[in-house]
Amino acid sequence: MNVMTTLGHVYLVGAGPGDPDLLTVKALRLIEAADVVVHDRLVSDAILEHVRPGAQMINVGKLPNHHPFPQANINALLVSLAGRHQNVVRLKGGDPYMFGRGSEEVGVLREAGISYTVVPGITAAQGIAAATGAPLTHRGLATGVRFVTGHCRAGHDLDLDWDGLADPDTTLVFYMGRGHAAEISEKLRASGLAAEMPVMLVADGTRETESRHFTTLERLAETAAKLEKSRPVLIVIGRVVDLADDLALRAFDLCEQVRHG
Ligand SMILES: C[S@@+](CC[C@H](N)C(=O)[O-])C[C@H]1O[C@@H](n2cnc3c(N)ncnc32)[C@H](O)[C@@H]1O
Repeated sequence: MNVMTTLGHVYLVGAGPGDPDLLTVKALRLIEAADVVVHDRLVSDAILEHVRPGAQMINVGKLPNHHPFPQANINALLVSLAGRHQNVVRLKGGDPYMFGRGSEEVGVLREAGISYTVVPGITAAQGIAAATGAPLTHRGLATGVRFVTGHCRAGHDLDLDWDGLADPDTTLVFYMGRGHAAEISEKLRASGLAAEMPVMLVADGTRETESRHFTTLERLAETAAKLEKSRPVLIVIGRVVDLADDLALRAFDLCEQVRHG
């Protein structure tokens, strides 16, 4: 093990799906106190506004299938920053341990003998379930939920247990699935899931720009194709989608009242 003498501590912090009110108290405290913040593309501007003036901000954001800042460089950057700063915040969209490569970064920090803390965040599926009214489980509609990656190496098919996934009693939440929407639709139907199973696609979930798109498993690909590629999209498949409410019905909650005066 290559142990170096470090000054700092690295906090892997989940920023939640975008709405700053969904940050944990601990995440907010750490963001405000950070000397340097290394953040992803998915961390919203409304959250980055909480970084204190004078703190360094480093955007290591990646676009789908485009990796301007390779993971190995991010790992090396964290190690190097911990040698120069006391409070290093590695800020990730949603939860650091949900399709966020947080565990890989922790592995590198451990290997380098750098102390770290992981601060959980609300994952996109939870934020979007609450925002839309489509619960992840519901008595009589879904006995369980599965969080699934819809991403794989370019040019390859998704390597998933389609027969296991095609269960009408389970809610399926696909992260990074827009690019493979046609395959998801075809493979689930081939494994027996009904063509008319309700599907919801949510772009920019919990943000001011959020949009919801309701469709069926059969028409998933054509609905997904209409969404701009630059926006994060979550795909929810299952009967619970029928419980989603209309944006117009969303309660005007206390936080919104405080924010808008
Ligand atoms: C690399 S994964 C990171 C997931 C993140 N760690 C989490 O816990 O939510 C990125 C994918 O998460 C989903 N996602 C994250 N935030 C989202 C949001 N606000 N709205 C819709 N989808 C989102 C999208 O499917 C996006 O392609």
